[in-house]
Amino acid sequence: MKKILTCIISLLLLNRVTAQQATPISASMNKVKLDFMLDAGGRPEYKVDYAEKPLINISRLGIKLANDISLDSNFVVINTERKSVDEQWKPVWGEVSIIRNHYEQVTIHLKQKNSLGRLMNIVFKVFEDGVGFRYEFPVQPNLKYFTVSDEVTEFALTGDHKTFWIPGDYDTNEYPYSTTKISEIDNRSIVKGSDDIAIKVCPDKYAVQTPLMMKTADGLYINIHEAALVNYSSMQLHVDTKTFKLKASLVPDAVGNMAYMHAACHTPWRTIIVSNKAGEILTSKIILNLNDPSKIENTSWIKPMKFVGVWWEMQTGKSTWNYSNRSDTVGADGLLIPNHTHGANTANVKRYIDFAAKNGIKGVLVEGWNYGWEDWFGNWKENVFSFVTPYPDFDVAAITQYAKDKGVVMIMHNETSGSATDYERQMDTAFRFMNKYGYTSVKTGYVGKIVPRGEHHDGAWMVNHYVRAAQKAAEYHIMIDEHEPVRPTGLQRTYPNWMACEAGRGNEYNAFGHGDKPEHETIMPFTRFMGGPMDFTPGILKVKDFTVLPNKQVHTTLVKQLALYVVLYSPIQMAADLPENYEKYADAFQFIKDVGVDWDNTKIIQAEPGEYITTARKEKGTENWFIGAVTNQDGRDEIAPLDFLNKGQKYIATIYADGDNADWDKNPESYKITSYLVDANTKLKLKLAPGGGAAISIKPVNGDTKGLTKYK
Ligand code: NOJ
Ligand code: CA
Repeated sequence: MKKILTCIISLLLLNRVTAQQATPISASMNKVKLDFMLDAGGRPEYKVDYAEKPLINISRLGIKLANDISLDSNFVVINTERKSVDEQWKPVWGEVSIIRNHYEQVTIHLKQKNSLGRLMNIVFKVFEDGVGFRYEFPVQPNLKYFTVSDEVTEFALTGDHKTFWIPGDYDTNEYPYSTTKISEIDNRSIVKGSDDIAIKVCPDKYAVQTPLMMKTADGLYINIHEAALVNYSSMQLHVDTKTFKLKASLVPDAVGNMAYMHAACHTPWRTIIVSNKAGEILTSKIILNLNDPSKIENTSWIKPMKFVGVWWEMQTGKSTWNYSNRSDTVGADGLLIPNHTHGANTANVKRYIDFAAKNGIKGVLVEGWNYGWEDWFGNWKENVFSFVTPYPDFDVAAITQYAKDKGVVMIMHNETSGSATDYERQMDTAFRFMNKYGYTSVKTGYVGKIVPRGEHHDGAWMVNHYVRAAQKAAEYHIMIDEHEPVRPTGLQRTYPNWMACEAGRGNEYNAFGHGDKPEHETIMPFTRFMGGPMDFTPGILKVKDFTVLPNKQVHTTLVKQLALYVVLYSPIQMAADLPENYEKYADAFQFIKDVGVDWDNTKIIQAEPGEYITTARKEKGTENWFIGAVTNQDGRDEIAPLDFLNKGQKYIATIYADGDNADWDKNPESYKITSYLVDANTKLKLKLAPGGGAAISIKPVNGDTKGLTKYK
């Protein structure tokens, strides 16, 4: 009898639970299905299925506010709205020239069951390759100005997935990637071992950064990130290594708050991208589609380009940013005493301009041209640099004229050393200076602890600062490339002059740090690049013996450096090596001269995070295609079918391949270049060295093909 009673009670209980969850509000597109529920406590929850299998298990939603106000429970659904959208738009620049925005939207209007009756809407957009959702707060009597103290959002994973992660640090995204199971995540040894990163604040050993890339045991690829991050702090994820639940973890400001809001308002979008093909993660447009269209009406002045720069020579210790060795070494005349190692001197800059002009490279970046570098770093100073005062050996007017005569544009450098307040005060004067001297773009930088003191690189105050800098640059028709900012979330759609950010571990770590592991560039497109372009600074062809520092080398072959121009997408790409090294490897440098920076189309030929990526892109407005293939520490043979080429058209393919015995460590600068006649039926057989790659340029040939060898 007792047994039967227990049975009946549990059935009843089950019924109650299912009754509450039996009628989820759903939306779906192809294989992706989203369900929204309220549990018995009026707590909002969601789950996501992919191909009829759980992808994200039941996960909680909501936010918490200061003064113990919780917007995560005690809700009822008061209304549901739906919308279907299928439209196309054209980015100003990008990996493709037309983007489809196709989704099912459901907005759930929630109201709290108490006398204050606070309102919160959750908007879900379901795409064929994932889901985006955000919280919206309509105008209402009992929620006007409010302070966010926590976000409840969870992503309950279905298993102990393979994960590609960096620590969830408040101040840097420049860590090397770790590949582990969710259950093995613990960032302490990575944080401790990363003594090549200047500023690290990582209080939670179970925190990871987004974009977070994962692979399930069933071969599904999942990427979690956010889109349109403005007026809110960036979302990292706290990992429960036992239950595989990820929880939003917001970066606090100087007084511990996460965001200051004023209804009507909303949070950024949380994004879940999914596919059973790794390459489809790379081509997903969810993050761009969740961002607002361009706020800049006339975009004719925004131009993708390649550039060289007075840069690698400082990174490798050949010259210095600073003009004098110390800020207090002044002569009797009160002027700085030169150290004679200063890189940004007029003669040297002219050498780079000559090189750029000769090789059809549009831009020249010069770092270390302005006062302030003698004690720029590590002192948490508020006033560091002048952004309008050149060092005595940098003749800005003469350089401008020289560049103009040679058809080259100069790229300004504004390192702030983390003092954002200093930069905000000087921005207008800095941009006016750029306009006066014909600079069309600026690279900014935030190396060091942030001023306002107590703020973090990834907190809400700085998030808004980076946007203000992009907006201000746009007012002056300046393109911007920000180093050490928060990682991108697709805002380049809204501000297309925001060409790139760094916000990741670039090639420079091969110069001054522990380097990038050979697998690094096979992970970056799945993680850091999901939110937008990176100024990675590829193209170091002299991969060994470039510095007096011990044990430093680039951890790729020379050819892999070429392949990065295609695999790592950016509308501005640096040819980062020294002119003399390009002259030494002039035939290999030809690929960098030829490769496009803006694209009509992109095809991922094959990809597996941590292993290999082969990408083909069609240059905008031409019939030229470029292929880049990269591998991790393992050599591999692969077949690249050229079936994307126009049928019936013949092309000449120039193949830059690793030498027969090339190896990123032992023999990195060995390569061979061959040319063949190819067409849409050709299947290229590529042999990638350990840590190597392949780079191919494909151009149509019309007319006589005599003397060209057909590829077999
Ligand atoms: C770090 C940047 O990533 C690098 O490109 C730059 O040269 C230095 N900061 C100095 O601004
Ligand atoms: Ca950096």
